[in-house]
Amino acid sequence: MVNSKFHTFASQLDITDSMITIISGTNRNDAKSPQIAKVYQSLLSDKGVDSKIIDLKDLPIDFIGTALYENSGKNESFNELRNLMHDSKKFVFIVPEYNGSFPGVLKAFMDGMIFPTTFKNKKAALVGLSSGIQGGGLALSHLTDILNYCGTHVLAQKPKLYHIEKNFDGEKLSELYESLLVEQIDFFVNF
Ligand SMILES: Cc1cc2nc3c(=O)[nH]c(=O)nc-3n(C[C@H](O)[C@H](O)[C@H](O)COP(=O)(O)O)c2cc1C
Repeated sequence: MVNSKFHTFASQLDITDSMITIISGTNRNDAKSPQIAKVYQSLLSDKGVDSKIIDLKDLPIDFIGTALYENSGKNESFNELRNLMHDSKKFVFIVPEYNGSFPGVLKAFMDGMIFPTTFKNKKAALVGLSSGIQGGGLALSHLTDILNYCGTHVLAQKPKLYHIEKNFDGEKLSELYESLLVEQIDFFVNF
């Protein structure tokens, strides 16, 4: 459900203040976002920063009908992720560009969080990616608006990884894109 180099399933709910939660923002099969989340986790590890990955591909398939609104709190699998988000102080969102914005599943996931405490007075860093030329620029703006509304401070440095297929082989980013992530991490750890 939650991937981590550093933690077993049993310890998923333990999260320290310095730990960063990375959200891979799509549930698409064979998506690049979770692969980039792993790269990001490895770059954080190089700096001695611990992290966990939430891959939206691992959401319960029926969560829209079993975990939102009047069903809030009723889906145990979803609750694990909800609690992890609630206990996290810092988030990194890996945000693919879908139809000029971020994926609907990410918004539905956010709508299932405990309100208002999940995002209030938290911090976030955003990374966009796309096949086309925007690198998720608009998607990052849309998500920034929502996070700011919910009380999350969003780091100004937001790498936009455009033409992702030409710059990422599934494991390694181009030198430029890796340097953009490292630069963001340097700002984010002190944010
Ligand atoms: C539903 C959907 C909509 C998409 N819309 C756009 C788009 O508006 N602009 C773009 O450059 N790429 C678009 N793409 C391509 C994604 O940017 C591409 O899949 C990229 O690899 C990042 O997403 P991933 O994590 O799903 O791989 C779209 C892909 C999907 C599945």
